[in-house]
Amino acid sequence: MKQGKRVGIVGAGNVGATVAYSLAMLGSCHEIILRDNKIDVARGKALDMSQAASAVRSHTVVRVAESMEDLVNCDVVVVTAGSPRLPGMSRDDLLMINANITKEVIKGIAKYSPDAIIIMVSNPLDAMTYVALKESGFDRSRVIGMAGILDSSRMAAFIQEKLGYGGGQIRASVMGGHGDDMVPLPRYSTVAGVPLTDLLSQDEIDQIVDRTRHGGAEIVAHLKTGSAYYAPAKSTSIMVEAILKDTKQIHPCAVYLEGEYGYKDVVSGVPVMLGANGAEKIIEVTLNEAEKKMFQNSCNSVQSLIDTLNTNKFFEGE
Ligand code: LAC
Repeated sequence: MKQGKRVGIVGAGNVGATVAYSLAMLGSCHEIILRDNKIDVARGKALDMSQAASAVRSHTVVRVAESMEDLVNCDVVVVTAGSPRLPGMSRDDLLMINANITKEVIKGIAKYSPDAIIIMVSNPLDAMTYVALKESGFDRSRVIGMAGILDSSRMAAFIQEKLGYGGGQIRASVMGGHGDDMVPLPRYSTVAGVPLTDLLSQDEIDQIVDRTRHGGAEIVAHLKTGSAYYAPAKSTSIMVEAILKDTKQIHPCAVYLEGEYGYKDVVSGVPVMLGANGAEKIIEVTLNEAEKKMFQNSCNSVQSLIDTLNTNKFFEGE
């Protein structure tokens, strides 16, 4: 029998497990179900996290799904499953591999948790969110990609580092896809309400914008064997919490556009209101000509990945 809120997490690697840990520590839900092909690793992590939850007197239980069938009646399912880019593999190779993994996972979610809200985390993020939307058949409000909170948090951390003050008071804004041509918006970034442009020179702001765009790669260069997971996982758990608690707060997330910002049939990062029904509202921010151009470049990059999927007949025969 189901008690309280249930969150499924597909992929119990660094990102998936850290999302689970973050939610378990907050006591955001009654149950977290981890699904991973490495079932014993998932079992070990689930036990470890349930014990950590007991340590902080959280009521959350973490358990394992032996198969997709056990991922039943979830309120939210987070998808982190995917292959990392291996030597000799092109971006397009990775795209096709992860699109196929996503397709299979999403079919399982649609079957066993048909009322869930899906949060996509797998890369390439915007294209995988598009695949999840098409394969689930869900309303676009229920298929949301995580990246904007992560990219904005990175920008905020870089602003704090550059200024040397303002920690916890910085609101940075990043729109567009989760790629090298994401759209950091200094004009909409503030420190305690003070516009960034009043605090830093154009040159300093340009450095922050550039570092934000390559924030993921900077961490990969240090870790060498993998990519970031603390900030990606925390950003995901913020989305899960906003949905479970129906907060109606605005966060930048990747959603399917149906004419907003002048784009259709593509996924991009824009501010959305998160609540019990998922992305309940898409907010259209006024962009200047330069910002519009950057947003266009970013949408074009995502579109070219979708075109590759179509060229490979990925969506055919359904
Ligand atoms: C990052 C990769 C994992 O931004 O997308 O860290």
